[in-house]
Amino acid sequence: MRLRALKVGNVTIENNVFLAPLAGYTNYAFRRLCKGYGAGLCYTEMVSAKGLKYGSENTEELLYTDENEGLTAAQIFGSDPAILRAACEHEKLQPFPIVDINMGCPVPKIYKNGEGSALLENPILAENIVKECVKSGKIITVKFRIGINGDNLITEEFARRMEGAGASLITIHGRTKDKIYAGDVNYREIAAAKRAVQIPVIANGGVFSDTDSVWLLEETGADGVMVARAALFDPQIFCALTNTPTENRLEMFQKQLKWTGQVCDERFTTVFMRKMAAFYVKGTRGAAAYKERLFQAQSPDEILAIAQEIWG
Ligand SMILES: Cc1cc2nc3c(=O)[nH]c(=O)nc-3n(C[C@H](O)[C@H](O)[C@H](O)COP(=O)(O)O)c2cc1C
Repeated sequence: MRLRALKVGNVTIENNVFLAPLAGYTNYAFRRLCKGYGAGLCYTEMVSAKGLKYGSENTEELLYTDENEGLTAAQIFGSDPAILRAACEHEKLQPFPIVDINMGCPVPKIYKNGEGSALLENPILAENIVKECVKSGKIITVKFRIGINGDNLITEEFARRMEGAGASLITIHGRTKDKIYAGDVNYREIAAAKRAVQIPVIANGGVFSDTDSVWLLEETGADGVMVARAALFDPQIFCALTNTPTENRLEMFQKQLKWTGQVCDERFTTVFMRKMAAFYVKGTRGAAAYKERLFQAQSPDEILAIAQEIWG
């Protein structure tokens, strides 16, 4: 696809291929891996603004970063403008110059709390959130969906509002909330929003190959693409999209295992890397048997031994 740098606020993002926020996955190790494979910007998993306020434990791991990772965006969610602003100003967000506000999450618990995709139904509140967060001095971006359902598409108007409130970039997931992650991406809605605003627009949804990204950029006129699920099966999709050299799976796996262990305890590392190996093994001969063994593995060393058998 056509690569270019993006200027967002006072920051230059190396290229226009982004790794999406993925709850349960885009931790430090996964982001560092994708960055090494060419991703221009990676997002943390969504972090609760209230959780930051009340000091819930897992924010430490969710927001771990270091200089090896480079520029990273933190994603937060919530519905109270003051609490979201306080999150932007929280010391744990200090290493992240870009803060993204989640306005697309369809998970019932989040939606019922008036957070995530519920903000699509409350555009005034959504605007107030962005206005308040901008006061923190962070570069504020917003990730949202095209609507709650097919009868109420809000993309263009919502994009305008977010720009007017001070967002520096928007990412549009071209599906409605009721479709969760299924079905075609409505590229026309993204295209209409792109025409309506001056800030960079990133198109998201259904990018599983370089061909998909070229198509999505052409159809929407967007400034870049964001990749989500495809990266779970193969973080080296970023190599294909950014012309970055690939490496073998075992090397990749070893790096991820090491970096996960740097931040998380052995129990978490074991459970997480089992999950990742199960993604990476898909399509390999004997995948079902490997998966069964992986899920019985009790330590990072055991997982590594199986990985060496698969990819060594
Ligand atoms: C397991 C999983 C976790 C996700 N977590 C988040 C999240 O924390 N924040 C967010 O904005 N979107 C989240 N999403 C949505 C993705 O970022 C993305 O918008 C969606 O998967 C569509 O892109 P794709 O078709 O490339 O997968 C998640 C999606 C999945 C499958």
